[in-house]
Amino acid sequence: MTHRSPNLAVLGLQWGDEGKGKLVDLLAAGFRHVVRFQGGNNAGHTVVVAGQSIALHQVPSGALHQGCFLVVGSGVLLNLGVFRQELDRLAQRGIDLSDRLLLSDKAHLILPHHIALDQGREGGAIKIGTTGRGIGPAYEFKAARMGVRLADLLHPDTLADRIRPGYEEVRLRLNNPSALPSLEAVMKELMDQAAPLLPFIGDSQGHLMEAWGRQEPILFEGAQATLLDLDHGTYPFVTSSSCSIGGLFTGTGMPPKALGTVVGVAKAYTTRVGAGPMPSELFDATGERLREAGREFGTTTGRPRRCGWFDAPITAHACRTNGVDGLAIMKLDVLDGFDQVGVVVGYRDGEGGLVKRLPACASDWDHLRPEVRMLKGWSRPTRGLQRLEDLAPEARAYMDVLSECCSTPIAYLSTGPDRAEGFTLPGSCLEGRL
Ligand code: GDP
Ligand code: IMO
Ligand code: MG
Repeated sequence: MTHRSPNLAVLGLQWGDEGKGKLVDLLAAGFRHVVRFQGGNNAGHTVVVAGQSIALHQVPSGALHQGCFLVVGSGVLLNLGVFRQELDRLAQRGIDLSDRLLLSDKAHLILPHHIALDQGREGGAIKIGTTGRGIGPAYEFKAARMGVRLADLLHPDTLADRIRPGYEEVRLRLNNPSALPSLEAVMKELMDQAAPLLPFIGDSQGHLMEAWGRQEPILFEGAQATLLDLDHGTYPFVTSSSCSIGGLFTGTGMPPKALGTVVGVAKAYTTRVGAGPMPSELFDATGERLREAGREFGTTTGRPRRCGWFDAPITAHACRTNGVDGLAIMKLDVLDGFDQVGVVVGYRDGEGGLVKRLPACASDWDHLRPEVRMLKGWSRPTRGLQRLEDLAPEARAYMDVLSECCSTPIAYLSTGPDRAEGFTLPGSCLEGRL
């Protein structure tokens, strides 16, 4: 008989900001290693402990657990200046990572010209509403074989030759290339930023393989989410990495059998930052109320998030794509006090038919109108609840509808930002793991 691997992945199921950071922090106590495998500092994962909020962008959300070893995998992009600031901020709070951090030598760097190109494009005709952190260009140059990896920092003699082709290419594409720092200045700043980090660069794949061999449990932390995935999201309004399950394997170098359980994280409603389709979006007072009650302003850019009811077709798509074993439904408390709560169960197309399949072409989304099923709200608040038995029957009925629409059982229910606010469901894939 084969035993299921204890290793677990936490993946976003909507358009990001579902509450992955909270769940990873909670779960991390039971894991030896926590790994980021894609994305860069476009991510903003919030962890709240004893009323104190900590935003993590590139450091894995296991940071607050002294016993957790933190790994930044090969699929991640690193902005070293931002990374060092993050380490400093953690150190100021007494969180020291110096003996429990490994950065993949294959991870790519985000360089100033990537950021300039990203921001330059956003000022042009095609607006994705990116975070402006250089993510698209850095992944683009990785695919074009003009990227710079952490391993290149260990070879200062050839580093300029690695940086030059991408740098020159960006100069050609920019309207105002003279605003770019010189190649020498880019090099100097990079080497200064890198110096204290050089001892942390190493073979993350080997580290994880050995940990797996020793049966030390590994927690994989997704960033962004399936609807922002380069292949499976609402292209072209997506990020430039594989944020669904496939990215975990390419971004760590681990094989599928290393993974035992997939937990998908979704809010009890839907949000999105930036441009692109969002059929559930509410432009009225209800949308505004969700934004205020949920404090829906970006962790990374502070932008207001677009808000709407729970969108079942997109979340079901994400559950299928990732093979989700259990749902973590977050922020249920934000719906407290609503007389009625909605679930988008499908979309009406131009001919009036009900569709649940997501279009591949962005313009086809324009013809879809949400079909909303309204359910009774709950009079008893859910905020801070720690037991399923204490949930009002209407809130329980709402959870049952979400689970049914996604054909996936609920594993965790979050009722507030703090660690203590929420509970696992009996018999689920998370029972006994928190
Ligand atoms: P991530 O990017 O998926 O890690 O999510 P973010 O950290 O960007 O956004 C989620 C926000 O919701 C954070 O401010 C969390 O502290 C907060 N949060 C998480 N779970 C809950 C919850 O159950 N209720 C409420 N009210 N807030 C929550
Ligand atoms: P976490 O991990 C929400 C969105 C941006 C934009 C699109 C492309 O906190 O859930 P990019 O800068 O990646 O090229 O922007 O993706 N986006 C996110 N939205 N949460 C995130 O991360 C996001 N990371 C990128 O707003 O629409
Ligand atoms: Mg976030």
